[in-house]
Amino acid sequence: MKKINIALIGCGFFGQQLALGFTKVGANLLGVTDLSMNAAELLAEKLNTTAYVDIETLLQNTKPDLVLIATPNYAHKIPAIVALKHNCHIFIETPFSIHQADCEEILSLAQAYNKRVFIGHLLRELPGLKQAKKIIESNKLGKITVARATRQRWIDSFQDKNWWKNDVNLTGGKLFNEIHELDLLCWLLGKVASVYAQSTNRSHNDTPDNHDIIQLLLQFESGVFASLEMGTAYRLHEWGISIHGELGALVINFFTSTMTLSLSDGSREQFNLYNEFEADLSLRESGKATQKYNLPHTLCPLWLTRAVEIEAESVIGHLLDKDKECTLDEKNVDAIIVASAAKKSIQEKKLITL
Ligand SMILES: NC(=O)c1ccc[n+]([C@@H]2O[C@H](COP(=O)([O-])OP(=O)(O)OC[C@H]3O[C@@H](n4cnc5c(N)ncnc54)[C@H](O)[C@@H]3O)[C@@H](O)[C@H]2O)c1
Repeated sequence: MKKINIALIGCGFFGQQLALGFTKVGANLLGVTDLSMNAAELLAEKLNTTAYVDIETLLQNTKPDLVLIATPNYAHKIPAIVALKHNCHIFIETPFSIHQADCEEILSLAQAYNKRVFIGHLLRELPGLKQAKKIIESNKLGKITVARATRQRWIDSFQDKNWWKNDVNLTGGKLFNEIHELDLLCWLLGKVASVYAQSTNRSHNDTPDNHDIIQLLLQFESGVFASLEMGTAYRLHEWGISIHGELGALVINFFTSTMTLSLSDGSREQFNLYNEFEADLSLRESGKATQKYNLPHTLCPLWLTRAVEIEAESVIGHLLDKDKECTLDEKNVDAIIVASAAKKSIQEKKLITL
């Protein structure tokens, strides 16, 4: 059977997870590279592959079908462009980019080379979220009225201020770095027409750029109203999305790893987000912990490892057989457009129409 050949750019925390996930589902890892040759060599040794000194050398020597890009948020564009120019499909970790213009440039280049751009919006591929999408599309909820998303945790003050994950100019800020719920709102509910956003830093003044409360008010083109509240100044943790329609409500709760559909006829159905008990349990356990940004060479909890494997299976399946659906190469810029507008709204203190 044909195998998809892959190469990895960026051998830190998530690059390692991606390489493990994609190889587990049958991809053939031909080589890796990193700005730090030491990081590339360590991972290459662990995964029994070859470390290359730079992206050009990696791609010239390996000629992969698909390139995985797991560099920091500010450094997604150049690897993406080089990989496309080498005629490869690309998989970019979230966020696509911290600049909307980069996303558009990458997508138009991909179109010119007839290549796919997959973005690591891994929550979309969880069985429960796919079910949520089907429920909304099947009109079971009737006309959607309003939605509310939350991603609220506590984070302890940062120790290493020079680490890129603690520098808002390099992460793009939480709106970009933690874009998953905004992406899900856009993916489930369609195009956003306007956004008003406000943010503040209540409890982490030793890191003045990093806002720990962010609130967005969204109006969708369909007329749906929505809000997103996110941040790290919340001692009571909440993580989920509720979507209300005229006929019922759908509640996705990541901390119970469930989705509940309640309809006005009194019926109620509950689904787990995974099809496997251990991954659901691991996601439930994660709710207790305070927010942490992961160091290179650490491993993901099981729920995240499985989410990577599930998304990898979908990407590889799609590349081998175009009829197999993969949600990760569609509607990829929508959340970036809204995040950029929200940032502008915060700066200018006004409603931004898209
Ligand atoms: N989907 C998710 O849930 C999820 C989770 C964690 C991280 N991520 C994303 O994965 C990406 C990587 O994050 P991480 O946690 O692995 O960071 P990391 O700091 O652990 O690793 C990044 C690696 O990229 C290397 N690098 C930097 N610039 C490079 C360049 N120009 N060329 C080659 N290598 C370069 C660094 O040396 C480092 O080894 C980020 O975009 C992050 O947001 C996504």
